[in-house]
Amino acid sequence: MAKAKSTTLFYCTECGNEVSKWSGQCPACKAWNTLVEAPSSSVGSARKSTLKSTSHFDNKPIAIGDIDTKSSISISTDFKEFDRVLGGGIIAGSLVLIGGDPGIGKSTLLLQMCKNISDYDHEVLYVSGEESERQIKLRADRVGAQSSHLKVFCETSVSVISEVIESTKPDVVIIDSIQTMYSDNADSAPGSPTQVRESTLALMKIAKQLSIAIFLVGHVTKEGVVAGPRMLEHMVDTVLYLEGERSASYRVLRGVKNRFGGTNEIGVFEMHSDGMVEVLNPSAYMLNGRINAPGSVVTCLMEGTRPIMLEIQALVSRSNFGLPRRTASGMDYNRVNLLMAVIEKRIGVQMCDYDAYVNIAGGMKINEPALDLALVMALISSFKNRVIDPKTIVFGEVGLAGEVRAVSQADKRVQEAKKLGFTTCIMPAVSKKNLTEITGINIIGVNNIKEAEELI
Ligand code: TYD
Ligand code: MG
Repeated sequence: MAKAKSTTLFYCTECGNEVSKWSGQCPACKAWNTLVEAPSSSVGSARKSTLKSTSHFDNKPIAIGDIDTKSSISISTDFKEFDRVLGGGIIAGSLVLIGGDPGIGKSTLLLQMCKNISDYDHEVLYVSGEESERQIKLRADRVGAQSSHLKVFCETSVSVISEVIESTKPDVVIIDSIQTMYSDNADSAPGSPTQVRESTLALMKIAKQLSIAIFLVGHVTKEGVVAGPRMLEHMVDTVLYLEGERSASYRVLRGVKNRFGGTNEIGVFEMHSDGMVEVLNPSAYMLNGRINAPGSVVTCLMEGTRPIMLEIQALVSRSNFGLPRRTASGMDYNRVNLLMAVIEKRIGVQMCDYDAYVNIAGGMKINEPALDLALVMALISSFKNRVIDPKTIVFGEVGLAGEVRAVSQADKRVQEAKKLGFTTCIMPAVSKKNLTEITGINIIGVNNIKEAEELI
């Protein structure tokens, strides 16, 4: 039996499950090719260190009424968009992970946040493992950061960083990025799942013990997950993703996990030459530059509690080949095919020998069923070459029988449309019943796509 106690352990990078023997599939979460080797010494030491930290704090259960919440005051980032995604502001003692593609603007946004909070005399430590002080200074000059409360530290050793944090006790720490950090507890190279896990554990301990908010920057792999993936999301309190198309200048900060507020909240920013600028009215921003052509329909989607207006564009043209081409950018290709089949079957508009191209103007990515009706109307409008009144918005889910189904938060969508000067709203008849108190906008309820088609 002594032999079975091998010196290496394997653990799953998806769920963190530990096994003593490698296999192709994780026995716990059934994911394939996710088991990686971890030196058992590191696994043991991580355990030991967490145990030590608790005994050091003389840990015992306490009555819920006696828990001190004063330390969980939040600091405003001075960006309304950022605060909302964080759940009101930066909570002391929280660990926040910000993921995103390289070059999307994570360092820029965080440096601007550091500028804002250091301008209000909060102590900030910006740790960079990727850039030199000079590079950070150049960026800081662009965004106008110069407060003496903002300290820059170029270091990759977590133990050195921990010592500095413990001696200087800043209010907020930025670690840019977690993949460049290494901990002495693990032998593998920086960026490997073991190192990322060990480093995060060490930083989490400091954040909780000293009540310091720590932001971790995480790079996203080709598959779109933060390297050292799911387990990192389990460990932190808040996970945010900064998304956007390289070609478009706007960026969306999306909350995917938040222990202090709602998820699915988004903040919209635009990249300028002097840093990110928040977009307080994304609907107006997204509809900017719109022209009124057949195939163009405005719809309203909900991002968390927030309505955002978007333009859906469809182009339906006669196909020159036997097999018609269909493309969808910004939305699910299969959904487009499905809705085209529903149109053919339920209202007899023959699109089978037509190419169809669908686009979400502005480069947003969406997958909300409430956009179905708008897409159906855009396709029919382009097919018939008839313009839809530009002051109209459309939303509703479409079922396979061609019925238009209710959507959530219809009132918020209608209010947003009214605020932006739309005069007509085409929506599910079932949702219309609940909206009797909204006036000043003409609400047309439809039961199925046939009724919608007749409106075009
Ligand atoms: P960066 O914050 O370095 O991205 P990340 O940390 O996510 O890798 O952003 C890099 C890009 O942003 C780069 O292409 C230059 C651009 N940028 C601006 O357009 N304006 C600015 O003020 C700054 C600082 C960067
Ligand atoms: Mg960066």
